[in-house]
Amino acid sequence: MSDARNDRGQGAGDREERMLTVTIDGRAAKAREGAYVLEAARAAGVEIPTLCHHEALEPYGGCRLCVVDVTKAEWGGWCKMVISCQYPVEEGLIVLTDSERVRETRRVVLDLLLARCPETPLVQRLAREHGIERTSYVANGEPTDCILCALCTRICDHIGVSAIATVDRGIGRQVAPPYHEPPPDCIGCLACAEICPTSFIQYQTSDRSRTIWGKTFEMLRCSSCGRAHITVAEAGHFAGRGGVPKSYFETCDVCKRKQMSATFAQLAAAMPVTPVVG
Ligand code: SF4
Ligand code: FES
Repeated sequence: MSDARNDRGQGAGDREERMLTVTIDGRAAKAREGAYVLEAARAAGVEIPTLCHHEALEPYGGCRLCVVDVTKAEWGGWCKMVISCQYPVEEGLIVLTDSERVRETRRVVLDLLLARCPETPLVQRLAREHGIERTSYVANGEPTDCILCALCTRICDHIGVSAIATVDRGIGRQVAPPYHEPPPDCIGCLACAEICPTSFIQYQTSDRSRTIWGKTFEMLRCSSCGRAHITVAEAGHFAGRGGVPKSYFETCDVCKRKQMSATFAQLAAAMPVTPVVG
């Protein structure tokens, strides 16, 4: 296989990460070129509130809670408000995560969200932390715990299933399977329910079956401990997609770890002991 090299004789694997200097809330920090402001701020120990961000997923920019002000010395005092989860760092960037207008913008975002989700503990807590006890808008007459962060639909796309989507518009916007029917593509993996920050997505699971989005799945039991650990559909999906043999899913992760430690212990016991020469 050919190894493409640049004019300094470097291949892709040799390239060093370029570090940029930024200032976050008055403190100088280093950030990897290509990193987003949110990541740089968190690495520097500065917390920015988020609702739709997850390290495992591409930034989405849906909730607008992570807004910050950015400027540069050469911008002559001009600054702009950006979404920190989607704005890449630049050399010399000055970031303000707690300016008055940033705080005010976050308050508006949370005020609106509280109108949609007046009974959701996560929203209530964030609103309270930003000085809002009650929404100044008309509260939703049919409260929902779905904050429309789209984490569930994005994780579902990420694992290659895409069984659910955000549908409808305005106040009726919601996450649902196609035609509100049990989704034919769903594999019952629970990724959507586990990533949901408000526990909005409900499911039932037992040793025999699991039900989510109105669809019921047969469970696969671990051949070693007997625990139901994955749905049959999930094993089939990941075996087909990753080329992993189906037999891989016959034992659960806990038993796999136990088996591996037992193998290592046997190997260690079989190794000849080398005397230490003083
Ligand atoms: S169901 Fe949960 S994860 Fe999905 S959009 Fe609503 S709050 Fe976000
Ligand atoms: S976390 Fe950046 S827009 Fe939601």
